Amino acid sequence: MAKELSGAGLRGQVAGKTALSTVGVSGSGLTYRGYDVKDLANQCEFEEVAYLILKGKLPTKTELFGYKQKLKGMRGLPQALKEVLERIPKEAHPMDVLRTGCSMLGNLEMENDFSEQSEVADRMLACFPSIICYWYRFSHDGLRIDTETCDDSIGGHFLHMLHGELPRKLHEQVMHVSLILYAEHEFNASTFTARVCASTLSDMHSCITGAIGSLRGPLHGGANEAAMAMIQQFTSADDAEEKMMGMLARKEKIMGFGHAIYRESDPRNDIIKGWSEKLAADVGDTVLYPVSVRCEEVMWREKKLFCNADFFHASAYNFMGIPTKLFTPIFVMSRLTGWAAHVMEQRADNRIIRPSAEYTGEDYRPVPAIDERD
Ligand code: COA
Repeated sequence: MAKELSGAGLRGQVAGKTALSTVGVSGSGLTYRGYDVKDLANQCEFEEVAYLILKGKLPTKTELFGYKQKLKGMRGLPQALKEVLERIPKEAHPMDVLRTGCSMLGNLEMENDFSEQSEVADRMLACFPSIICYWYRFSHDGLRIDTETCDDSIGGHFLHMLHGELPRKLHEQVMHVSLILYAEHEFNASTFTARVCASTLSDMHSCITGAIGSLRGPLHGGANEAAMAMIQQFTSADDAEEKMMGMLARKEKIMGFGHAIYRESDPRNDIIKGWSEKLAADVGDTVLYPVSVRCEEVMWREKKLFCNADFFHASAYNFMGIPTKLFTPIFVMSRLTGWAAHVMEQRADNRIIRPSAEYTGEDYRPVPAIDERD
């Protein structure tokens, strides 16, 4: 009989060192290089936080201006990448498109040497929104969009390309907050994937491609899409309560709730919930936001489970007219900063990651001759 695993999911085990973030330790529960995520979300633009995570310090005004100018100049896509994107069908999942896009970029703009790692990370940060939107607009609207917009921010660039018009200030502001909240989260599954890949001294594009694959799953980044699919089915708060009670009775997993590390709340939830409420008022919503709030109440009352960062992101993105299937790719546009910084950190003090397994198979036995086997 199989022995029970002592540390299923590696929960609670220290698997390496990082100076990038703390989860469930200090401040509101999440800090990036010592700064509380709440303060960063209140006071900074996403590019400032990306700079902090990737370069190690908050930028001065001049450094921020220079960094944004640099990223703006890196939004264009090579022709060969556009051709690949044009061949991916409309029905594909955009996370698969990003995975392919990142991998193809690695063929065209190879990281020849680790001394190029910072440039490679900046290039990805600048052009991932272009990859998503170029494919989306070509496959859905038959348009070959210009990805070299002059929008000030990464979030604004994304919304502009997606909707074909300049983004509203409110929406650009929400994108800053959202991208800040998603930027970094210690040794989560996708980051750990990136670090394992980095520990073999592989290239940055391989590390990030692998991380995208990990983030895609509904237990990780895919939860914001799954949460949207759920709340969209509810016609009112009462309907949500009734249906959720049924789901809980059937022991179904409710996406957007619970967390592997946080025990009582996810510090990112309050922040994005506040913005979702503002957006609900802005669009005159009377269903989705009250439904979401009721889901939160029911889950806490019944299971003591709280919303994680993904739950109110679903309604917030929906209020900004973002199609559900682009929710997780937005997560990538942001978490890329954390992944790349972790890759750099792993490389700076590397030993190949190679844990052991608890063996649960047959005892040692001889190989029978072929005509003696059952
Ligand atoms: N819905 C229903 N039950 C849930 C739940 C959810 N969203 N999250 C946790 N639980 C249950 C678990 O099944 C477990 O029950 P059991 O003891 O009867 O098996 C119990 O609560 C404790 O689970 P916990 O140990 O806290 O979770 P985990 O560390 O194994 O998993 C998640 C963490 C995030 C994967 C899990 O909460 C989950 O699947 N959430 C939904 C997906 C999601 O939103 N992911 C995004 C994470 S940011």
